[in-house]
Amino acid sequence: IFPTSTDAARHVATLMAKMIRENNASGVPTVLGLATGSTPVGLYRELIRMHKEENLDFSRVVTFNLDEYFPMPKDDSHSYNRWMQETLFSHINIKPENVHIPDGTVKPGAVADHCERYEEAIRKAGGIDIQILGIGRTGHIGFNEPGSPKTARTRLVTLDPVTKRDAASGFFGEENVPQQAITMGTATILEARKVILMAFGEHKAPTVQKAVENPPSESIAASFLQEHSDSTFILDAAAASDLT
Ligand code: F6R
Repeated sequence: IFPTSTDAARHVATLMAKMIRENNASGVPTVLGLATGSTPVGLYRELIRMHKEENLDFSRVVTFNLDEYFPMPKDDSHSYNRWMQETLFSHINIKPENVHIPDGTVKPGAVADHCERYEEAIRKAGGIDIQILGIGRTGHIGFNEPGSPKTARTRLVTLDPVTKRDAASGFFGEENVPQQAITMGTATILEARKVILMAFGEHKAPTVQKAVENPPSESIAASFLQEHSDSTFILDAAAASDLT
């Protein structure tokens, strides 16, 4: 628990930079699982600063994003593909071929195959070293909404009404929020060697409390992280305020 989200973001960035530098020194890639949304913005800003001011080298970094709305053109202002380019990738020296984000433009009949190939690409990269997560008010990680089993893999899902309501302002109304998304599954996420879930602000406090203190269950996907051997919740004081 950190006093502010800025302190928390700096802590996570430092930990990621350490792993990237160590792996670079031994000539091995670092595989990062990345999230979009408001939560990781400060983290990405700090990583960009480290790249520009401290020569943090991303040329061997491989990334896999959690999710993308479906359907969603890559250049749409709501696309997570575009968001990642604008928020992080265009500011660092990552190789375009090392970036992986679920594709919201595949034909509906080809989604299952796309999801399988996404899982295969993660396996081929050697698995995810560090998975960065946010948490939704439904307790989702990625877009694994309530009812998602612990065994879920990358797939097409229907967004929970609460998630659509939370996204509504960005889409000028709830009716414009896509019904569906492609997301890494809970099982895909749990296979990462290290998981860092970040949550900031008072509005996250009740969900964080349930995820951390209730027994793991499908009603809060993030609660499954209790069963992971190396998962950490990085909170600001406000998000931690309901913990007993
Ligand atoms: C985003 C994602 C979501 C968000 C969550 C929190 O790629 O997978 O699980 O992390 O909805 O969103 P923010 O950070 O906007 O509160």
